[in-house]
Amino acid sequence: MAPEEYQLLNEFISERFGVHFPAGKQAILATRLRPRLQALGLSRYMDYYLMLQYGLNSEQEHLTRLITNNETYFFRETTQFEALLEEAVEKLLAEATVSGSLRILSAGCSSGEEPYTLNIFAKTRPLALAGARLRIDAFDIDAQRLRTATDGIYGPNSLRATSEEQIHRFFARSGVDQFSLRDRYRQDVGFSLGNVLEPSSYRAGAPYDALFCRNVFIYFAEEALRRALASFASVLRPGGLLFLGHAESIIGVSDDVETVRLARCVAYKSRAR
Ligand SMILES: C[S@@+](CC[C@H](N)C(=O)[O-])C[C@H]1O[C@@H](n2cnc3c(N)ncnc32)[C@H](O)[C@@H]1O
Repeated sequence: MAPEEYQLLNEFISERFGVHFPAGKQAILATRLRPRLQALGLSRYMDYYLMLQYGLNSEQEHLTRLITNNETYFFRETTQFEALLEEAVEKLLAEATVSGSLRILSAGCSSGEEPYTLNIFAKTRPLALAGARLRIDAFDIDAQRLRTATDGIYGPNSLRATSEEQIHRFFARSGVDQFSLRDRYRQDVGFSLGNVLEPSSYRAGAPYDALFCRNVFIYFAEEALRRALASFASVLRPGGLLFLGHAESIIGVSDDVETVRLARCVAYKSRAR
């Protein structure tokens, strides 16, 4: 990949999807795209860039699969779900925009394990919600992962942190090493195609009381991170909580949120506007 091809493709990807391949990762970008160029019969990365620039959305959809990391599993980083439902929920419900209802967004939900785990936590702790209705909207940029989310059928990789007892309780066997999430835990979770950088992706259920965007920003350029945070600020109601992945921090990046210390994790609170 020539330096100018790398620069153009990297700028395009970062601008559209947020994901950024810094100079040292040029070879990784080339390796990820090469099979696609071969499949399309293109000899130069510049041809692929032009195709993306002027071509169909379907190729951009394909590109998202090549450049994103979809790694996720059930019961990942659950301390944040516990903190939400055991520590923060009372205040969130008292201040909720829609009385008797808690609205949550999972942005960058991959194949659904994150919002479904949160739903399992909520449904197995009915007292925490004190009769309030929970609604979880979830979106991701990768259409293929979203199909898995709506099918709700998972294999060993997704269930590697799920005990035998939990598998038995929350899933029904649906084939060799395949488990279907029971209806009760699918209810109240809705999926759509969306991009954290596109304001139109957030329309559905805003304003939200809490927003999870975990392990999405790891590969983002700072400019894209700022754009996503500005969108979050516009859909998270004042006092609403933002949860990021354990390895991610936005301290000093955005004035729209302030850090909140919960018992076993850190969250960010949306400031009054
Ligand atoms: C590593 S997974 C994390 C999934 C889940 N949040 C978790 O923590 O287990 C990152 C997900 O972010 C999605 N993603 C990356 N860039 C995105 C963007 N601009 N808008 C929406 N989703 C994006 C990827 O498609 C991928 O499914």
